Amino acid sequence: MNHFQSIARVPGDPILSLMEAYRVDSHPGKLDLGVGVYKDTQGLTPIPKAVKLAEQRLLECETSKSYVGGHGDPLFGQLLTRLVLGADSKAITAQRVGATQTPGGTGALRLAADFIRHHLPGRGLWLSAPTWPIHESIFAEAGLQVSHYPYVDADNRLNVEAMLAALSHIPRGDVVLLHACCHNPTGFDLSQADWLRVLEVVKARELLPLIDFAYQGFGDGLEQDAWSVRLFADALPELLITSSCSKNFGLYRERTGALLVCTADAEKLIDIRSQLAFLARNLWSTPPAHGAAVVATILADEELKNVWVDELEQMRVRVTRLREGLVAALAPHGLAQRFAHISQQRGMFSYTGLSPAQVKRLREEYSIYMVGSGRANIAGIDAQRFTQLAQAIAAVCGGR
Ligand SMILES: Cc1ncc(COP(=O)(O)O)c(C=O)c1O
Repeated sequence: MNHFQSIARVPGDPILSLMEAYRVDSHPGKLDLGVGVYKDTQGLTPIPKAVKLAEQRLLECETSKSYVGGHGDPLFGQLLTRLVLGADSKAITAQRVGATQTPGGTGALRLAADFIRHHLPGRGLWLSAPTWPIHESIFAEAGLQVSHYPYVDADNRLNVEAMLAALSHIPRGDVVLLHACCHNPTGFDLSQADWLRVLEVVKARELLPLIDFAYQGFGDGLEQDAWSVRLFADALPELLITSSCSKNFGLYRERTGALLVCTADAEKLIDIRSQLAFLARNLWSTPPAHGAAVVATILADEELKNVWVDELEQMRVRVTRLREGLVAALAPHGLAQRFAHISQQRGMFSYTGLSPAQVKRLREEYSIYMVGSGRANIAGIDAQRFTQLAQAIAAVCGGR
């Protein structure tokens, strides 16, 4: 018997196929704005100096490779919780928040999905339209009913009114996933005033927010980006937060992140954490240790932390400048107004507003690669080649 005969091929991840097409493209002026990683002026995804220094320390001091516990390294959990919620967080003082270390933000999302399915049966899960495509599959694969609330309109504008109207009609008790900052894929973030309104709807409908925090430090700054998360943690008794250290610590392949859970009181946290450890045990047993050890080493040491904070700020500022530079380069083509949103968006990504046909032309005629939805990774832009990129964009969308 041939056991695997009836298993068909699944279409590859479109971003990975794009990476492969870029790799084999021999055009000398090719530009990769597809894959979602930070790139420096050399087009490389660097290892931060703070990470290298922490790794040197670990190499000398690490005494065992035995398993870490189900919740991972407690020091990592404490320090990451403080980074996310702030040192003066009421939830931390009340001991009603705990971190479970996970393989990246993706692992945290998957653990949250299992937690919801097992312990909040029947609750629907609401995602922004659009959202990071992996959100769709993670929650659906975990067996949750996935629905969508509007976020960005077909004319490429954030529509907060439509979002609030939709949230105020979803079933009581459902789970709503919110991007804390640097919305992926659009780059459109809510203002503080918008967040306050979302909070009111969340309270009125008794929704459970699940805040995805994958880009802390890439939007307006480390503290500023956490504003929405801290607002919700202060105002609500219960909250799920997924935190990723992939982008801000440059630890992508080390799979470092955590699921933070806020509960009504310290006693309930113990129950919830016992369940999370059980679920995690059946997913990955115990989390990978290295990335979390690096993060804990950095956050525990003032000097190393300062080095990291400076490096992260440099990355953030570079992306902001690239946004402004691209819009300026489009101005001579009469397109500054049309693409003004690029400098207002936050984080690495931009929903440019280019159509799938325009994206296809950019790839086929100019070897400029971006996702079919028109999402560009702004960090992939080479500042030396603003003119070339602006000319290509003008050519495909009728600029001067
Ligand atoms: C919105 C969002 N959430 C979560 C993640 C998870 O990141 P990782 O699993 O690499 O930590 C990403 C990564 O691209 C993301 O864009």
